[in-house]
Amino acid sequence: MLEIESKVIDENIQGTALASEVNAQAEKKFYIESYGCAMNFNDSEIIASILHEVGYGATKDIEEANLILINTCSIRDKAEQTVRHRLMHFKGFKKRNRTMLVGVMGCMAERLKEKLLEEEKLVDIVMGPDSYRTLPALIAEAESGQKSVNVLLSRDETYADINPVRLDGNGVSSFVSITRGCNNMCSFCVVPFTRGRERSRDADSIVREARELFENGYREVTLLGQNVDSYRWENEQTNELVTFANLMERVALIDPLLRVRFSTSHPKDITDEVLHVIARHDNICNYIHLPIQSGSTRILQLMNRTYTKEWYLHKVKRIMEIIPGCGLSTDIITGFCTETEEDHQETIDIVKQCKFDLAYMYAYSERPGTLAARRYADDIPEEVKSSRLSEIIDVHRINSHNSNLADVGKTYDVLVEGPSKKNSDDYCGRTDKNKMVVFAKGTSQKCDYVKVLITGCTSGTLLGEIVE
Ligand code: SAH
Ligand code: SF4
Ligand code: F3S
Repeated sequence: MLEIESKVIDENIQGTALASEVNAQAEKKFYIESYGCAMNFNDSEIIASILHEVGYGATKDIEEANLILINTCSIRDKAEQTVRHRLMHFKGFKKRNRTMLVGVMGCMAERLKEKLLEEEKLVDIVMGPDSYRTLPALIAEAESGQKSVNVLLSRDETYADINPVRLDGNGVSSFVSITRGCNNMCSFCVVPFTRGRERSRDADSIVREARELFENGYREVTLLGQNVDSYRWENEQTNELVTFANLMERVALIDPLLRVRFSTSHPKDITDEVLHVIARHDNICNYIHLPIQSGSTRILQLMNRTYTKEWYLHKVKRIMEIIPGCGLSTDIITGFCTETEEDHQETIDIVKQCKFDLAYMYAYSERPGTLAARRYADDIPEEVKSSRLSEIIDVHRINSHNSNLADVGKTYDVLVEGPSKKNSDDYCGRTDKNKMVVFAKGTSQKCDYVKVLITGCTSGTLLGEIVE
């Protein structure tokens, strides 16, 4: 799944306090923090919309909140530890304001259920990812002094009719969820347990949401799903079947000025049809996030990824044939159960061969209840996991620096996102291939497309100047 901050390499877990001026005059205020993947951040916008309907306004100031929500991630143990630290932090606020309610939502809520209520008697509400519509009822229950929990997973909830309230976004780029849940059973992964069965959202509602975003000035949408290629939706009136390729084409046709991105593609499922749609439409970005996880076929089998190293390399070849120069990123796990030095060298080898533009690399973290936790021993010592991780990061850094150096002297269309983090006289924006470029802002404005000549780079960022 797409990472929120592309420069974070080792650990994608981070929080963002999401709040805005939404419903600023409201009597009751909520404060929300989100962790984990883009899907979770998008869910926080759905939660904000549900709260907005019942008269809650968002605040960035915990002190003035009646309700603190934390939208959590369980993907690795570290993600859960971060949440526990934040809960400890909230304790002080609750001591000062006894009527303040604390709600834990998302994947950790789904995984731990009622157990979270035992956390220092701090948590009042626990909600899994499919139960957000019942939040107002749970708040009412909690206000009457009862702890409330709803962690039912659903086979059909997609929140299709809820218009997410865009919180603290940049006004340029937005996420649009197209599926929920996951039917794959990668043995290391907690997501099928925390997010339930896969379901596809009504295609018309997706296109409508993307169109509204465009009409409101947004210039980029990222279609989100754990496995976007398995998107399938049938129109009950017309019996028309919409595949991911069809859906992406429909979104691309909204307007040539709307950039379309998507995440995540699964190597076993990405089709030539999807690749041809990307090649056909200039506004579908030439960038694919294709997690490999390991370069060893033996480990891939234990991971239940259902493809081999050769299959992956063949997919990369097809991508480059159909979309020459396509940007490619990946996810890698080091130190999975039984991983030998030879397996590790195969991962290094694939990183060298594929020359990923971006890679998100993690040490394996055993998750309770997953297939791997039940079947295999977590037998690679932590120091071996982390030294293998550093080795892979080093190889990847050299690749990505070389890839950036190769861009110097070229000119790219960049969608302006706003001031750069380091210097407000500079703007930043992304190329079609998802590379971040920093340049002197000149007369350009947020949401403009500008042509930028690349004049230099660091290992993570391109530097340039506007030429048009
Ligand atoms: N649906 C996406 C992945 C979502 S999780 C996909 O199939 O690619 C994002 C990434 O977290 C995964 O690709 C994997 O690299 C990593 N990850 C998942 N479970 C993990 C675990 N138990 N330990 C370490 N990394 C893990
Ligand atoms: Fe997890 Fe695999 Fe599903 Fe991705 S495809 S969410 S890694 S089970
Ligand atoms: Fe996303 Fe973390 Fe859940 S990666 S799906 S928030 S476990």
